[in-house]
Amino acid sequence: MKPIDNATVLVTGGSKGIGLAIAEEFAAHGHDLILVARGQEELERSAQTIRDSAQVNVLTFAVDLSETHAPERLFEQVKEAGVSVDVLVNNAGVGMTGDFAKGDYVKMTRMLQLNILTLSQLTHLFMQPMLERNHGRILNVGSLVAYFAGTPNWAAYGASKHYVLSFSKGLAREVKGSGVAVTVVSPGTTATDFVKTADAADMRAYQSLDGPSVNEIAKVAYKACQKGEVSAIPGVSNKILAYLGELHPRAIAFEVFAYLSQKKD
Ligand SMILES: NC(=O)c1ccc[n+]([C@@H]2O[C@H](COP(=O)([O-])OP(=O)(O)OC[C@H]3O[C@@H](n4cnc5c(N)ncnc54)[C@H](OP(=O)(O)O)[C@@H]3O)[C@@H](O)[C@H]2O)c1
Repeated sequence: MKPIDNATVLVTGGSKGIGLAIAEEFAAHGHDLILVARGQEELERSAQTIRDSAQVNVLTFAVDLSETHAPERLFEQVKEAGVSVDVLVNNAGVGMTGDFAKGDYVKMTRMLQLNILTLSQLTHLFMQPMLERNHGRILNVGSLVAYFAGTPNWAAYGASKHYVLSFSKGLAREVKGSGVAVTVVSPGTTATDFVKTADAADMRAYQSLDGPSVNEIAKVAYKACQKGEVSAIPGVSNKILAYLGELHPRAIAFEVFAYLSQKKD
């Protein structure tokens, strides 16, 4: 597909981690940004750093996207600001590890709302004008866990990322030829604040965080999105793990990933 020039790119969870790196990558290519996250101060700090270094326009909206009506409110706010979004990056997401049965169910609901429903609704809202213009991109941030046969210790988080992968692939096919493309990027374990908020530091998979950095992930994501590729997995070892996850018999892969998802005593 022809790359998108002079785009306005909305990045959810754009204040830090993978989302900020993706935002910086778009800005480095001259695209304007809209960054969304909850923490206003961090959001504004990140926006100012990008304005200073890349000389692009950056708007910020401090929104809790785990609230039920947040996507519609954000869509209206962007419309009122008179901006049309060419690229939507659905990156905001949180993880939860540990026993599902013992977990905080309210926290779980907010995670599922953010990782699944908000991502779907933002896509639904922002995609319509893109389809009318025959021009646009949706870039969804999934996870390598989506390639695993199942992930004990983060069963619900893993399932939420299975949704992101499956939804993105299905939607990419639905809009093929429309001028709008859908890409899903699936990072493996990455050193960000996610590790702490998901309480994943003592999980075997997170013992050595030597995979691609957030900047490397962002470069892969940017390229795949601009080319209109359906799926991208940053890092060679992550690609191998994803391939292993799809091999049959999946029972073997399940045991491998169940081991990797265990917390160390
Ligand atoms: N790090 C990993 O190992 C890893 C691996 C695979 C996939 N991923 C995925 O990558 C994505 C980004 O994660 P990350 O590692 O970059 O995590 P991070 O460093 O913790 O960043 C998360 C971003 O999302 C925002 N956010 C969190 N909850 C939000 C909410 N309710 N409403 C609006 N914004 C919210 C955060 O800002 P505020 O807290 O200020 O809201 C922040 O900007 C997620 O979808 C995650 O599932 C991460």
